[in-house]
This record gives sequence, C-alpha cells and structure tokens, in this order.
Amino acid sequence: MGKSARSLHFNVFIRGSGHHAGAWKHPSSDPKSDLSLDYYAGLAAIAERGLFDSLFTADNYSGTGRRLEPFTLLSALAGLTKHVGFIATVSTTYNDPFHVARKFASLDHLSNGRAAWNIVTGHSAADAANFGRSEHPEPTKRYDIGDEFVEVTKQLWDSWEEDALVYDREADVALDSSKIYEVDFKGNYFNVKGPLNIARPPQGYPVLVQAGSSESGKELAAKTAEVIFTAQQTIGAAQEFYTDVKSRLAKYGRTPDQLLIMPGLSPIVADTEAEARELEAYLDSLVDTKRSLQRLSNYFTVDLNDYPLDALVPVEKSKPFGSLNTGITSRHEVVIDAARRDRMTIRQFLSRSYAGHGHVSFTGSVLQTADFIEKWFSERGADGFNILPPVFPSGLDTFVDKVIPELQNRGLFRTAYEGTTLRENLGLARPENRNKRIWALRREAN
Ligand SMILES: Cc1cc2nc3c(=O)[nH]c(=O)nc-3n(C[C@H](O)[C@H](O)[C@H](O)COP(=O)(O)O)c2cc1C
Repeated sequence: MGKSARSLHFNVFIRGSGHHAGAWKHPSSDPKSDLSLDYYAGLAAIAERGLFDSLFTADNYSGTGRRLEPFTLLSALAGLTKHVGFIATVSTTYNDPFHVARKFASLDHLSNGRAAWNIVTGHSAADAANFGRSEHPEPTKRYDIGDEFVEVTKQLWDSWEEDALVYDREADVALDSSKIYEVDFKGNYFNVKGPLNIARPPQGYPVLVQAGSSESGKELAAKTAEVIFTAQQTIGAAQEFYTDVKSRLAKYGRTPDQLLIMPGLSPIVADTEAEARELEAYLDSLVDTKRSLQRLSNYFTVDLNDYPLDALVPVEKSKPFGSLNTGITSRHEVVIDAARRDRMTIRQFLSRSYAGHGHVSFTGSVLQTADFIEKWFSERGADGFNILPPVFPSGLDTFVDKVIPELQNRGLFRTAYEGTTLRENLGLARPENRNKRIWALRREAN
C-alpha cells in the first residue's frame, strides 16, 4: 500500500455479549463475564491481532445496562495492550471539563498516546435524575454546552507546553513555570481557572470522536471532531452524510482528511453465504420479539405492539424529526427512512434491526463482506467502519481471521501498525498547542 493511498480504518464497538439482540443467548457467548477484565482483555487482544485502530465503549448514566465505567476499564486494558487505541464515551452534559481533561490526559499518558474521547451530549433523559437535575436539557442547549465544554477542555490540555517539564538536575529546575498557563476561562456554562494538574497529553489532545448526526451534531463534528461514528442503512445515505459532513469542514479552516467518517457495520460472516444466513436465522430465533418491538417503538414514537407483525411499519404515525428532547433523534431518522424506502412489515423490520440496532448489518460470505466494505470505502460512503460483531468473541474472531486478510490482499488495509499512537495510526496530525503560539508572541513582545 503506497504511503499516500487512502486506507481503511477499523474500530470495534465493544458491548457485552455482542450487538445482535440474541447474542447473550448464543452458546458461544459468555454473558456472565461482561464485568470481567479478562473478558475485555481477550477482545482487545483479538482487535490488536486484526490491527484495528481502536476499540470503543459506549456509556450513559442511568438504566440497568451493567456498564463498566470507561476510564477504569480502558486504563486497565492500556496496561495489557501495545497498539490498539481506546475510545471512551464521556457526556458533556453531566461532567466537568476539568475532571474530563485530567482523566483523558491520564489515560493518554498511561497508554502512551492511545486515548480518544467520544464526545456525546447524552441521549438518556433518565440521567438527569441521577445528578439532582430536574430535566435533561433540550438538544440545542446540550450541543451549546458541549461546544463550550470541548473548548475549555482543549484549553486545559494546552495549559502546559510540551517542554514545561525540565527535570534539569544540575540547574535544579524541575518545571519551567513560564510554560504553564492559567486558563481563566469564563463562559456561559463553565468557569475554569486552570492550569491542568497534569502535563499535556502525549498526543496533544486525545483523538476527538463525535457520534451525533443531527444538524448540531454535524456542526460540532465539523468544528472539532477527527472521527465521526454514524448509523447509515444504505450506501446512498452514507454517501450523502459523508459529502455533507466533509463539506462543512472548510468553514472551520479544516480539510476533509482531518475528519474520518466511520459508519457502524454489523457483519454476520461465514465462509459461505448459506452458512452466514444460517447463523443469522439462528441468532434471530433467540430474540424475544415483544421486547425488541418495545425498543423499536422508542425510535418510532409509536407503540408497535399495538399492530400485527405483518402490518406495514406505520411510518406516517411517527412524530416529526427533531421534535424529541430525548433519545437518539438521528437514529430515529435512519430507522424511519429505511422503513419508508423499503415499505417493510414490522416483522421484516424487526429481523433487520436485531443485528445492528439502527446500524447497517450485512450477512454474507467472507468475499461478499469484503466487497461490501470495499464498495462503501471506495465510493466515499466511509473512511473506515465501526464494527459491531453480532456475538463476542466469535464474531470478532471471524472478522479478524477471515475478512481482514482478504482486505489486506486487496491492498485496502494495513499489514502492520504504522505508528505508536492512535493519531499516527489514523493518519491524523498532532494538534499544536494554541497557547504556545500566543505566549511565544507575548514573550517576544516583552
Ligand atoms: C456508534 C454510536 C455510538 C454512540 N454512543 C453513544 C453513547 O455511548 N452515549 C450517548 O449518550 N450517545 C451515544 N451515541 C449517540 C450520539 O452521540 C448522540 O447523542 C445522539 O446521536 C443524539 O444526537 P444527534 O441527534 O445529534 O444524533 C452514539 C451514536 C453512535 C452512532
């Protein structure tokens, strides 16, 4: 693969027993180990064997999802791996920038530059009650807070120049205090004095990831994100999203290669298409239909349990996009769009949504899966994929041992890690310290 050639990137979305709704009942999964470090260490080792750029954990602050806290899990994994990056989801609605800047700087130091932040504004309204808040802010306000949150966090990371730590024993100087700055941030939502109490992260900033697809989400991504996760059901929709987001970058002084677009993909793969279909049918047979209907009903804002399974999905009854204060509004759009386009029955749609919870799923042979990936990549619907294996660890194993070599043979994917940091592997530049330039000018003026 030539140095200038565009190449694929892969992230694995880690989630309990897997992404298929029936995963936890599949005999090869081990649902009881989903709070165990050994389990996640095993998944990280497979991701590294497959030369994945990163692994990612989702998060929210309510419900009964049995989620390990991301920094705790990812710091433990940092000590057990060498190459794979770690994307921690942290909401800007229920955190403080100082804590978040410090935790990411710590994770980036402990992992030697492999940390990334999935910046979310939080899609669960139930979070509010766990923080003594009477309500979950509406989406525009959440993004307004998120925008300021990211800005102050960056300023905190920039509050140390790279060479502020001197440790010159002869001169008896540990720190060059002229290279550490107060932030003195006064905004609409946050007031932070600074400086941060830890040196600038090895990557400058951890890689900034964004996962919202609404108008405000796309703007935040265009302004600040370096990777964007998204759920798209068809290559046409993926291409529209790709072109739309990339075209927004210029107004922020950025170039299209500074933001990688990674749609989610749930691959149900086997050596032959027939075997893959068999696996899919088996997984579908494990699912509790009523409960899945309930989940789909949340996206539709219509109780689908009130309709026969063979009725068409009642898209016309769904509330208009953007009218929801909570939930993943852009996922709502994706799901309704797919149902409208293909005029599906509720039963057909259920089966389609089991695997990818709104993300596209693809069922086929190794070669067909590689073709699918190649098409989305070469026709600019994706720069890489957020892989959602239907079942862990078997789905990830199959992808790594079969699909990855096929993509390597086609010259589409690396055969060794290019760098040591996540930024280097993703081909992203290290951000300059904005303070450094400002203070250098001031020093010159004096
Ligand atoms: C792959 C992926 C993972 C996501 N993970 C989370 C998550 O862990 N926590 C969260 O609150 N939102 C998560 N989201 C949702 C978005 O960050 C965002 O909050 C949501 O899409 C609503 O914003 P939007 O209307 O701009 O899309 C995820 C979205 C995608 C595509």
